Amino acid sequence: MAGCTPILFFLLTCAGLPLCSSDPNDEACLTHLSQSLKDPYKNLQNWTKSTFSNACNGFTSYLPGATCNNGRIYKLSLTNLSLQGSISPYLSNCTNLQSLDLSSNALTGSIPADLQYLVNLAVLNLSANRLAGEIPPQLTLCAYLNVIDLHDNLLTGQIPQQLGLLVRLSAFDVSNNKLSGPIPASLGNRSGNLPKFNASSFEGNKDLYGYPLPPMKSKGLSVLAIVGIGLGSGFASLVISFTGVCIWLKVTEHKMALDQEGKISQLMPDY
Ligand SMILES: *[C@@H]1O[C@H](CO)[C@@H](O)[C@H](O)[C@H]1NC(C)=O
Ligand SMILES: *[C@@H]1O[C@H](CO)[C@@H](O)[C@H](O)[C@H]1NC(C)=O
Ligand SMILES: *[C@@H]1O[C@H](CO)[C@@H](O)[C@H](O)[C@H]1NC(C)=O
Ligand SMILES: *[C@@H]1O[C@H](CO)[C@@H](O)[C@H](O)[C@H]1NC(C)=O
Ligand SMILES: *[C@@H]1O[C@H](CO)[C@@H](O)[C@H](O)[C@H]1NC(C)=O
Ligand SMILES: *[C@@H]1O[C@H](CO)[C@@H](O)[C@H](O)[C@H]1NC(C)=O
Repeated sequence: MAGCTPILFFLLTCAGLPLCSSDPNDEACLTHLSQSLKDPYKNLQNWTKSTFSNACNGFTSYLPGATCNNGRIYKLSLTNLSLQGSISPYLSNCTNLQSLDLSSNALTGSIPADLQYLVNLAVLNLSANRLAGEIPPQLTLCAYLNVIDLHDNLLTGQIPQQLGLLVRLSAFDVSNNKLSGPIPASLGNRSGNLPKFNASSFEGNKDLYGYPLPPMKSKGLSVLAIVGIGLGSGFASLVISFTGVCIWLKVTEHKMALDQEGKISQLMPDY
């Protein structure tokens, strides 16, 4: 029992010492993130090297946008700050991160697959940016994900089928991107008691199809269009041939009349 006292003493006082509150992983994470982001309007106050090495003190954060828990960053919320640049893959060094919200900025580049190493991540909100590329299927490895909100970006490719394996997912929104292909049934038609996602989660993607959106639009002409063209051209050829017959009749009638006239004139004696 007595042997534990120094450790307990250490733990109790540690929170007050700046040395204890710095975490090398969080420092690497923040340093790389601030390098990859562009902040043209200087909205990121106190995002400096000296703060990165000492961002958290117990539950106190010295970094606006960051929330701390036991000396580690567990929430990053940098929304509507006109941020540009890209999301650093080194964000994965913030290993205690549970919530990442970078929504409503002007971020470009792709969603780093390295986010898969954030095994505690529950909330991922990157909506309303200019993120391109594909949705990394590796996000499936963040087993605690509750929220994936990627709406209003420029994401391409298909929705990874594996994301349907995230059983805790209660919010999923990829609307208004450039996604294509079938909506995986594991997301569009979830089984059992899993929360369902309706069309509003998927709409605004030109080439995305399948329930809860309409089925695939066949390339080129639809069956209805082909039938329509068939009927239309049939009718048109009928009209044309009918007109042709009429003209032919008229012409022959005229010719016959002429011939008749000719015959008559032949019969008529010349005076
Ligand atoms: C900025 O960071 C320093 C050093 O970590 C800290 O002492 C200060 O309180 C912070 N300021 C704000 C506004 O968070
Ligand atoms: C975003 O920020 C701008 C100005 O910085 C503000 O006018 C606007 O209301 C904010 N939008 C939201 C949704 O917070
Ligand atoms: C930090 O993140 C990078 C990119 O994901 C990775 O290569 C590196 O191993 C990480 N460092 C640590 C200490 O985990
Ligand atoms: C993600 O962020 C946007 C904008 O900040 C917000 O409107 C939206 O509700 C968030 N998504 C979720 C699922 O909370
Ligand atoms: C949804 O799934 C159920 C059973 O899992 C199936 O019977 C049904 O046909 C599916 N609906 C669609 C539109 O795919
Ligand atoms: C679709 O789901 C969203 C929440 O995910 C809800 O706000 C909305 O009312 C639903 N729309 C329809 C038509 O059910």
